[in-house]
Amino acid sequence: MQNTLHTVCGIDFGTSNSTVAIVRGGETTLVPVEEAHTTIPSAIFYPGNGSLPVYGRQAIHAYTEREPGRLMRSLKSILGSELMAEKTAVGGQYRSFESILVGFLAHLKAKTEAFAGTPIEAVVMGRPVHFVDDNDVVDARAEAKLADIARAAGFKTVSFQFEPIAAALSFEHTLARDELVFISDIGGGTADFSIVAVGPERRSRTDRSKDILASDGIRVGGTNLDMKLSMSAVMPHLGSRSKTKTGLDLPRWPFVDLATWHRIHTIATSKNMNTLKQILADCAEPGVFERYIEVIRGQNGHLIAARVEQAKIDLSAKDSVDIDLNDTMRGLQTKTDRPGFEQAIDAELQRLKKAVSATLAASGRSGADITTVFLTGGTSAVPAVKNLMTGLFANARTIEGDLFNSVGFGLALEAKRRHPEPGKSKKVSGKAKG
Ligand SMILES: Nc1ncnc2c1ncn2[C@@H]1O[C@H](COP(=O)(O)OP(=O)(O)OP(=O)(O)O)[C@@H](O)[C@H]1O
Ligand SMILES: [Mg+2]
Repeated sequence: MQNTLHTVCGIDFGTSNSTVAIVRGGETTLVPVEEAHTTIPSAIFYPGNGSLPVYGRQAIHAYTEREPGRLMRSLKSILGSELMAEKTAVGGQYRSFESILVGFLAHLKAKTEAFAGTPIEAVVMGRPVHFVDDNDVVDARAEAKLADIARAAGFKTVSFQFEPIAAALSFEHTLARDELVFISDIGGGTADFSIVAVGPERRSRTDRSKDILASDGIRVGGTNLDMKLSMSAVMPHLGSRSKTKTGLDLPRWPFVDLATWHRIHTIATSKNMNTLKQILADCAEPGVFERYIEVIRGQNGHLIAARVEQAKIDLSAKDSVDIDLNDTMRGLQTKTDRPGFEQAIDAELQRLKKAVSATLAASGRSGADITTVFLTGGTSAVPAVKNLMTGLFANARTIEGDLFNSVGFGLALEAKRRHPEPGKSKKVSGKAKG
């Protein structure tokens, strides 16, 4: 039965996982978007027989069960890029990535409306502080594209808020005293930081712009760490360190693409397959690169990426782990350990450190002024990342928030502020504040 309560929502469309929270009758609730889960992997599977796409864990399951069709993940990473306008063959048709993402957001909307029991017209979408590094034009294009996608999915009123500001609102939601919080939201695709004055009295203000001292972000996230781990631990077994007959290095792109979530599905074009065969013919020891071609032909790219990602996740709790790829390449087992992983991701750790310093500098405060470091985003679980974040603030306590739901919940709090119940209070501006 339809309920008549005023209902608005916040959507955290993530590189790896998405969440939705709604506000109805003044109450903020996370939506069970896939069965009982409040998170859904941002994954889409188009069955080869042309039937309707499936999403989330179900999409990953269809792929791992080797149902014919195509899996796509990490599509947020291509917002703003040229790839967005390209069409790709899925489910027996050529579709644009844009229309594929409309399907994903429409799925989230339908799940949310079924849970709420009412249509929902207004959404506050999360966005990273920068979709791409150092390019404001592409950045604006990515946000505009995401707004188009949300409207095409059926939302009438679409606005944005920075993901780390949403996390700050979540943290503030239950806070009993004033704090100066450093928010670190490091997810699958981006690392986003904000420094915000939060507190019980500030919470009810309509204009928070003075409380937001700085926001910044870079395109470093868990998928970059997966890429680096794959390049160091797995790709050498597929030929990345092999030589040509004349002693040159093999080109890097086949390995980088296979190690990069959002590029895996771009490899198996017929043009690329011809190039790969030429590379094979030119190899000094073709045996190793033959494995690469076998992986592409067997559509095992996402399987390898998933095993590498799992190894990375396991390394958050263990010192060393096995990566068993026997089912994708006969006899291939490899090992990785935490020191090796930390070495492989050193450039990313340095970039994170620099970005934290830049955020602090922009806020006009020193690290010693920060009272709490609030960690969210799945990549905050990587010990080297966590140590880096906490080590930079001498006087702060560290709070590990709900790594996967803080942003979505905070976006709904923002939606409540921007779209108050009719008759309750004035509507405020829907622009992202930085
Ligand atoms: N225990 C863990 N240790 C290390 N990494 C982890 C762990 N759990 C999850 N991750 C990583 O966290 C990332 C996903 O985090 P999250 O769901 O916060 O990202 P997202 O919100 O989808 O991405 P973004 O906000 O960057 O668009 C993945 O790269 C995943 O491998
Ligand atoms: Mg996120």
